Amino acid sequence: MPLKPTKKIWMDGKMVDWDDAHIHVCAHVVHYGSAVFEGIRCYHTKKGSMIFRLEPHIKRLYNSAKMYRMEPTMPKEEFMKACIDTVRVNEMRECYIRPLVYRGYNELGVYPLNNPVNAFIVVWEWGKYLGPEALEHGVDVCVSSWNRIAPNTLPALAKSAANYMNSQLIKMEARVNGYEEGIALDTNGYVSEGSGENLFLVSNGKIMTTPLGASVLPGITRDSVMVLAKELGIEVAEQLIPREMLYIADELFFTGTAAEITPIRSVDKISIGSGKAGPMTKKLQESFFKCLTMEAKDTHGWMTPIGA
Ligand SMILES: Cc1ncc(COP(=O)(O)O)c(C=O)c1O
Repeated sequence: MPLKPTKKIWMDGKMVDWDDAHIHVCAHVVHYGSAVFEGIRCYHTKKGSMIFRLEPHIKRLYNSAKMYRMEPTMPKEEFMKACIDTVRVNEMRECYIRPLVYRGYNELGVYPLNNPVNAFIVVWEWGKYLGPEALEHGVDVCVSSWNRIAPNTLPALAKSAANYMNSQLIKMEARVNGYEEGIALDTNGYVSEGSGENLFLVSNGKIMTTPLGASVLPGITRDSVMVLAKELGIEVAEQLIPREMLYIADELFFTGTAAEITPIRSVDKISIGSGKAGPMTKKLQESFFKCLTMEAKDTHGWMTPIGA
């Protein structure tokens, strides 16, 4: 879906008109992918517009920057405030928030440290990432022929722009072959994650997800689901998952800011469980969406109000 412009984009402390938010073609990021970013959602709730888990997202952003020796120009708290301000000026009731920290314009060698560190925050309207029906009926996926990034190559724990070249290979292959999404294995052959989602598997009433050592992004939704599952008395294990366990799982689902909790109904054309959202997935979806709509009390402190 083409982007629908909003009014203003926050750029290094200034609110700039959408049409004027440019960076130079010689900015370091354009040539070498030197950017780290976040994807955050703001929901329209019973108590007004609220950003879901803003603090851990900005913490992950700053951690991603730290791995690449990028020093953002302001403390985390100010950056969080800038996210809130950007939603507010654009008068968005509900939106996706994309803060991005990048290396800007000065010199163009691979060595990046003589370039400024710049940032912007853009917000836009975004519907259901894997299609409007996906949350209920699930998606058909394949195991990708592309592996996730090997350890000690590009850090998988960083949400860096460069990592998404790998994600694009996984996503393109899946879509070209008629699947909605691809699941990548790590370089040891164990299950890693989707191109833009973490993965959970349900087997015999227990939930498993792949560990951080399996080249996954430390997802905020992944963490939220683990918290909610524990509160519901469901056992959750972070463990290596061999590929074949995907095919014999009782239920499988993706988690992510974009995908929220999306059931997987088939892998490589082998149907999973009943072929639609299973009972455990539904239970977790219900509990998750109650938090997002604020039908449940915000006992975790996950929701940040946009205010007037
Ligand atoms: C590769 C990858 N894994 C997992 C996730 C899920 O992370 P989160 O729940 O923080 O959105 C994302 C989404 O940002 C992603 O791009």
